[in-house]
Amino acid sequence: MTSHTMAIKNDPKQDLDLSLTQSKAKSFLSPSFAAYMDNQDPLKELRNEFVIPTRGEIAPGADRSNESCIYLCGNSLGLLPKAVSRYVNEELQVWGEGAVNSHFKHRFGRPWVRIEETVQEQSAKIVGAKKDEVAVMNTLTSNLHTLLAAFYTPTPERHKVLIESKAFPSDHYAIESQIRWHKLDPATSLLCQEPRQGEYLLRTEDILETIEKHGHEIAVVAFSGVQYYTGQYFDIEAITKAAHAKGCIVGWDLAHAVGNVPLQLHDWNVDFACWCSYKYLNSGPGGIAGIFVHERHAMGFERNRLAGWWGHDKSTRFEMINVFKPIPGAAGFQHSNPSVLTTSALLGSLSVFEKTTMQEMRKKSYLLTGYLYHLLTTEFSTDVLEIITPSDPEQRGCQLSLVFKHGKMMEIFDGLAARAIIGDERKPDVIRVAPTPLYTRFEDVRQFVVELKDLVAQVYYLEKEK
Ligand SMILES: Cc1ncc(COP(=O)(O)O)c(C=O)c1O
Repeated sequence: MTSHTMAIKNDPKQDLDLSLTQSKAKSFLSPSFAAYMDNQDPLKELRNEFVIPTRGEIAPGADRSNESCIYLCGNSLGLLPKAVSRYVNEELQVWGEGAVNSHFKHRFGRPWVRIEETVQEQSAKIVGAKKDEVAVMNTLTSNLHTLLAAFYTPTPERHKVLIESKAFPSDHYAIESQIRWHKLDPATSLLCQEPRQGEYLLRTEDILETIEKHGHEIAVVAFSGVQYYTGQYFDIEAITKAAHAKGCIVGWDLAHAVGNVPLQLHDWNVDFACWCSYKYLNSGPGGIAGIFVHERHAMGFERNRLAGWWGHDKSTRFEMINVFKPIPGAAGFQHSNPSVLTTSALLGSLSVFEKTTMQEMRKKSYLLTGYLYHLLTTEFSTDVLEIITPSDPEQRGCQLSLVFKHGKMMEIFDGLAARAIIGDERKPDVIRVAPTPLYTRFEDVRQFVVELKDLVAQVYYLEKEK
């Protein structure tokens, strides 16, 4: 067996020796191992449900241009399910043929006046909710505002919102603006949970301690289910329970969790949640988003809410009576008649989920991301690449976040893109890669690692000495 020694050319102090792991990992890096895993995969046929861009489409001029690219970016935008084109085209056809009449008469049985109902049940299944606890509407940040309008009702004693210190910027801005909306000051009403010095991840015990200590003045705990930067999957049930014990409301941004990890929002007693559908749900850019409101809130109407006619009782909606009577359930939080095209796109993408279950997807995801994790930790020195996502599969979804050391992240990212390998970068130094179980093969993971090894050798000025 050949031993490869790689050394940083320009800095002898940082010599790297990657040879130690070579013999151990070699069999896992062989095409036959990946092919074996792909053959065993019970979900392998689902890849055929998607349009996978070719290498040539992603990186014009790339060799083997007709082969499929390596797409590891479902955490940002999922690939196009073939069913989406069909469903959207049907709506265009119905629009052309029936125009306004299609609100009530629809040749495919999906009258527009009830279009949102076509995606309600499957969405609820994916997040572990009762059908009436879920509504599909608007977009993610708008929904976060809508839900906070109902659930963030600060008092002089209880006015704080607890968030992650590195919450997604849109959430941070939304929550700060909600605080100001109530004539409060984020300096005193926003509580940010910081990781410990030198750490990336938030420890559950630290979050619980903050809740224990400050819970009496926290109105809302608003966390993400899976952290966008680190890929950490928080213990939603434990955090919700601890916050409830202190009398707080708990809401979750599930942008990176929905369609990625199995969720049980109803049983976990979550108060509210929101998500987008363009990442792991594959409904297309700017797709229609979703909300969850637990039935104990959604069936009662004591909370003030931002109202619109689509949240009004369906039987009298068109009587134009101007006396708001909300629909029981999350649907009572809707404002506008929904976008038929994006709802139909979601219907198409959810039809793929109907062919499997979140539990089956999770099983594959453990293996696929576990495979990636193993290869990365055995093939690369931590002086080049560090995985900041938890090593425990229970505490992550499919995404791994890779920190590239010595300021080389963008060079690596551009190099991958030129090789038709799509992840995404988050400054200052992270590349996120997400082998989503619906359409990623073990062979994709293997090729990614092989190409990355080659690229790291170039970018870090390593030379191979045979
Ligand atoms: C965690 C998280 N929250 C919020 C958003 C903002 O989503 P939108 O632009 O759909 O409102 C994103 C977008 O990627 C996200 O990842």
